[in-house]
Amino acid sequence: MENYQTLQFDVLVIGAGGAGLRAAISVREKGLSCAVVTKSLLGKAHTVMAEGGAAAALGNMNEPDSWEVHFKDTMLGGRFLNNPETVEIFAKEAPERVIELETYGAVFDRTPEGKIAQRPFGGHTYRRLNHVGDRTGLELIRTVQDKAVSLHPTILMETTVTRLLKDGDRVVGAFGYNRLTGDFVVIKAKAVILATGGWGRMFKFTSNSWESTGDGASMAFEAGAKLMDMEMVQFHPTGMIWPPGVRGILVTEGVRGEGGILRNSLGERFMFKDEYMPAHYKGKYATTEKEAHDWLEDKNKNRRPPELLPRDEVARSIYKEVQAGRGSEHGGVYLDVTHRGAAYIKRKLPSMYEQFHALGNIDITKEPMEVFPTIHYTMGGVWTEPKTAATSLTGLYAAGESAAGLHGANRLGGNSLTDILVFGKRAGDAAVEFAKDAGWGNIDEDQIKEEQALLLLPLTAAKGENPFTIGSELQETMQENAFIARTEEGLTTCLDKIMELQTRATTLKVPGDRKYNPGWQTARDIQFTLKVSEVIVRCALERKESRGAQWRLDYTGLDEEWGNKNLVAIKDGDQVKITTQPVPEMADHLKKIVEG
Ligand code: FUM
Repeated sequence: MENYQTLQFDVLVIGAGGAGLRAAISVREKGLSCAVVTKSLLGKAHTVMAEGGAAAALGNMNEPDSWEVHFKDTMLGGRFLNNPETVEIFAKEAPERVIELETYGAVFDRTPEGKIAQRPFGGHTYRRLNHVGDRTGLELIRTVQDKAVSLHPTILMETTVTRLLKDGDRVVGAFGYNRLTGDFVVIKAKAVILATGGWGRMFKFTSNSWESTGDGASMAFEAGAKLMDMEMVQFHPTGMIWPPGVRGILVTEGVRGEGGILRNSLGERFMFKDEYMPAHYKGKYATTEKEAHDWLEDKNKNRRPPELLPRDEVARSIYKEVQAGRGSEHGGVYLDVTHRGAAYIKRKLPSMYEQFHALGNIDITKEPMEVFPTIHYTMGGVWTEPKTAATSLTGLYAAGESAAGLHGANRLGGNSLTDILVFGKRAGDAAVEFAKDAGWGNIDEDQIKEEQALLLLPLTAAKGENPFTIGSELQETMQENAFIARTEEGLTTCLDKIMELQTRATTLKVPGDRKYNPGWQTARDIQFTLKVSEVIVRCALERKESRGAQWRLDYTGLDEEWGNKNLVAIKDGDQVKITTQPVPEMADHLKKIVEG
């Protein structure tokens, strides 16, 4: 057994994005001790990648918005795989959480009357995205972080957690290491909150940074927690495609929210094509340039531009245009916002202006961007109970992107920033209630020994594979076979490859020691990523229909029976067991909203 340090807190929060920090605020405000652990540095979470705004029905834009409309839009966008109770809580509490952000110091864009300005986004009936230019996630993290730090939680930066520690069925802490020193640490806690974000690093085109390797979901799965909706991975319609070094970097939906138009190589505004308009949205979106223009100018309230369909629809349409040979020079499509004028673009989309200028030598006030879908978000995650964010394991809570239930088969843009605030707070509150009455659990030395052995193996093995090779082979097969258009054949090929990679990943070899060694750190990360990839692909194979982000070329269209089922993955010995559970029934008052 190697040495390790032991720390002890009432509540341990794993992850320092918006959800983790908002949870920590709740814990500290109630006076309990709290540690926030982050793999990275404070302020560097994927939260900053939600650029265009935080969705909440404040109704500031002279439109009759309400939590009910937000509820209906979110359910429709998620193709009714969402837990209706979770969505109700979310839609009702989102406005309060946004206003609260102002009390933390957030400076939102303003309407001429001085209210928080709201912009349109895909699938939202009204202008609902409270924003700070195109840097909303950054402002959210800045302010939530300031507030959290002022309440003095212990912050452990550059610390990677690799295992949840259990006492029977209860989670009682976690084990990890400091990335700089390689020193091991055990963090004992009465309650643990997972706020580890999503996992996009198994795909080649991704907006996710190096941290998003699926540690949280994988650790929860290994500990016995239920994962749900794992096949539902969001392909954001617009990532950069050129130059190759920046492929996948996000081009905010805010561009389309501010009137950006998608065109193919023939110059067609292809989103007007009837084939791209789902039946359930017909009549709500413009079918002519004039209608779309009038909506933007606020002259017609009912016909949103078709570029503002939900993300799954727009991403598929772009993909189909490229497949049909109508793609741009570098294999994407064109996104043009030049008609809004340079001053407007620089004011509302300053980051996009700078991003394309710096990375692509493109002036977006004068020429169109080239874009293609990129992995951005994971709707699936750890199953949670709606009110408390409790998982299926005692003492373990999950919030934000690492949790499942809110977004169903497809998340509406902007719902993530308010998700992390609403359920970050709820997870914090519930963890406090639990921790108040719970004793300290027992830490089992065998679990620590086992994890240490796993971590140290690549340093001590006589020979083995390079973890980066495994990672790039995984990205190849996931991009090729589990990306936006899926088939039984492709998914099966992908699963076989993942299983082969998992076997190879049991014998890894890395040079050096434990001190700031990216090779060593990747050796454990890749095991997490492989496990999560396996679950994604198994669930994608199982769901024999097309719904939301899951587009099966061999099972086109919705299947009514599948519409009543969430897929659940659970550990069964060494195997991944996939089962279904019924989508929770919608209460009568919610049914009326949806039917109205
Ligand atoms: O496009 C965006 O700005 C992303 C927002 C989100 O994912 O919510």
